[in-house]
Amino acid sequence: MTEAISIQIEKVAKTRIHEVDFNNLGFGKVFTDHMFTCDYVDGAWHNPQVVPFQNLSLNPATSFIHYGQSIFEGLKAFKNEKGDILIFRPKANQLRMSKSAERVCMPTVPEEVFMEGLKTLLTIDEQWFPKGAGTSMYIRPFMFSLDAEIRVRPSDTYRFMIILSPSGSYYSEPVKVLVEKNYVRASNGGLGFAKTSANYAASLLPAKHAVAKGYHQLIWTDSKEHKYVEEAGTMNFMFVIDNVLITPALSDSILAGITRDSIITLAKDIGMKVEERKVSVEELVAAIKTGALTEAFGAGTAATVSHIIQIADEGVDYYLPPIESRKFSNEIAVELTNIKLGLAPDPHNWIEKIELNK
Ligand code: COI
Repeated sequence: MTEAISIQIEKVAKTRIHEVDFNNLGFGKVFTDHMFTCDYVDGAWHNPQVVPFQNLSLNPATSFIHYGQSIFEGLKAFKNEKGDILIFRPKANQLRMSKSAERVCMPTVPEEVFMEGLKTLLTIDEQWFPKGAGTSMYIRPFMFSLDAEIRVRPSDTYRFMIILSPSGSYYSEPVKVLVEKNYVRASNGGLGFAKTSANYAASLLPAKHAVAKGYHQLIWTDSKEHKYVEEAGTMNFMFVIDNVLITPALSDSILAGITRDSIITLAKDIGMKVEERKVSVEELVAAIKTGALTEAFGAGTAATVSHIIQIADEGVDYYLPPIESRKFSNEIAVELTNIKLGLAPDPHNWIEKIELNK
């Protein structure tokens, strides 16, 4: 149960919605008229408000800029045929954000602040929901430290914010990945399981090298031996070998993806065997070579189910089975989309509905 909080609201004088080309949204480039903010000062959260989307004014010594006390989440909302807003698993994001916060010495955002802030913002900007197939309202909650001091220590003050971005797909085509064995995204005891900005910073240079070679993304391997596959940075890594859904077991260097969890749950619902375990690159390559691997995909909020078409390891490109042949991932992608849109039953109560049209 969430308690009601009192959110102050200041609306824009004039909407920007007419300036937006909803047929060419891209991903994460367009933002709605408003944003939610709430500040943590003197050990408590204060002043929750929805205000016009605007630039921030920060002291140059603000600690997150220097020391990276910064975490975020990603989730999506949709509109059903009645025009109600359906938010996919927001409580899972709120809980994961709390875990990330604890790892980098930040306060947790109370469930009522997260949920009420989100619902209020979505309701105010409800006209901004995109309508095309594959589009969604991408929601970005985030928190950063606010103390203006150069000493390295956990900040005493923080800001939690939510912004909304009507978006299309993250990947516009099947994904080509490169198994990364030199650079490290996350190591044991590090930040990999937390959604901290630092993890994404660590991934930029190796990902840039991969893009220069013609790949979209990396498959990270474990930091000790570079022997086991972990995740893809923008998404978890899943595949089907001999009709078994296999994905690397969660660890402190892998993000506990909510889409990953949803797919595992739906797979079990239909009686599919699921294995969450260590998978070596060697096993993966052997399964590709024998044809036992029939499907591979990335799973993430932004990426949804992104088919992987090519995997490169040690300079060799392996081409995976055609997308049309991939029964499990194609069906699960449709099932997940239908649940999100309210077109299929929601047996696990994943949808949080805002009824705008009672
Ligand atoms: C998400 O899937 O929501 C993420 O935060 C990943 C990011 C690459 C967009």
